[in-house]
Amino acid sequence: MNAEVRIITTQVGIVGGGPAGLMLSHLLSRAGIENIVIETRDHETIRNTHRAGILEAGTVRMLSETGVDGRVLTEGHRHDGVDLRFNGTSHRLDFQDLVGESVWLYGQTEIFVDLAAARKRDGGDVRFSVTDTEVADLETDVPKIRFTDANGQRFEIRPDIVAGTDGSKGICKHAIPKEKRTDNFIAYPFAWFGILTEAPASAPELIYAQSEHGFALISQRNEHLQRMYFQCDPEENPDDWSDDQIWAELQRRVDGPDGLTLKRGPITEKMVLPFRSYVCEPMRHGNMFLAGDAGHTVPPTGAKGLNLAFADVQVLFDAIEAHYATGSDELLDGYSEKVLDRVWKAQNFSYWITTMLHSRQDQSTFERKRIQGELNNIVSSRFGQQYFAEAYTGWPSA
Ligand code: DHB
Repeated sequence: MNAEVRIITTQVGIVGGGPAGLMLSHLLSRAGIENIVIETRDHETIRNTHRAGILEAGTVRMLSETGVDGRVLTEGHRHDGVDLRFNGTSHRLDFQDLVGESVWLYGQTEIFVDLAAARKRDGGDVRFSVTDTEVADLETDVPKIRFTDANGQRFEIRPDIVAGTDGSKGICKHAIPKEKRTDNFIAYPFAWFGILTEAPASAPELIYAQSEHGFALISQRNEHLQRMYFQCDPEENPDDWSDDQIWAELQRRVDGPDGLTLKRGPITEKMVLPFRSYVCEPMRHGNMFLAGDAGHTVPPTGAKGLNLAFADVQVLFDAIEAHYATGSDELLDGYSEKVLDRVWKAQNFSYWITTMLHSRQDQSTFERKRIQGELNNIVSSRFGQQYFAEAYTGWPSA
């Protein structure tokens, strides 16, 4: 270990090199704003982090129009609708007809791969596998980020602005003193059992299925690889389940008079995903700004996590750019309030569809029937369908 601490000055120090941190770094570099990204994990670990597969149109535009990579357009698939399925009957929501938007199916892990490659291509300064990260002096004009790099060298970054994009387990939000921070949190009494299977798609679009046996989501990755989930107990161990048991469980949740039959194949991955909702308020402390999962977590239903992170990053980038271009801090000062507006809308949407589509052990007959009424309200009303479609495809940015 080299005892000497090396000092680096830069404009923006980015703590966290997942999709949010790399996207911010990419946008800043394009605008000529110096930045450094540090990340505790290595490339492979981040690549193997589970992420959902649906991108809002705004997320796709951020990638394709800023020159990250065109792969999202060539290898992703445009989806113009989804099926809401209950009582064994599918109801298609046609997003193009309802709100004139589409979503894109593209594994979000690929976005990390594309962004990391783009940062490398463009000479970005991204340091993976760092340890002992600390942020300090956030309320001063010279905030600090300290870390040890993969070779054991200790560094201190002295940026103007710190971006906290270090995910739900990161350190940045904890640097906001407890008395200045509100942690809004709820847990759910269920989780998702997720699989990847080498099989053809079972349906042209995604199916969100509510059934008396619990929720199932029939999603896709490409022509040969499909992603599916079913509601399970949070304590479930994936290794306790044989492939036959998994297929039987998924199938009974989509069974119906139309005879929908899932196309089976070898299951190549299985995992249990926890459910929680969290929002840190405010999303700023001094000269540190939180973005993405570092500031909020949503349950996976509706795939809002990464989309919301990119929406934060766009607002933060605009504010930082204005700070350097005009000297005005008006946008930085409005950052937390502005992003929290969308964050809470997304929290509500994710919570709403989660509670509507999942079943609970202690559910009363009244509650079960009320939810049928709610589902019927959506599918039988153009207004109901539009409300769902607008949220799912992503609200226009203000
Ligand atoms: C996927 C995950 C989601 O949570 C969702 O709502 C849609 C798709 C997915 O992994 O494909």
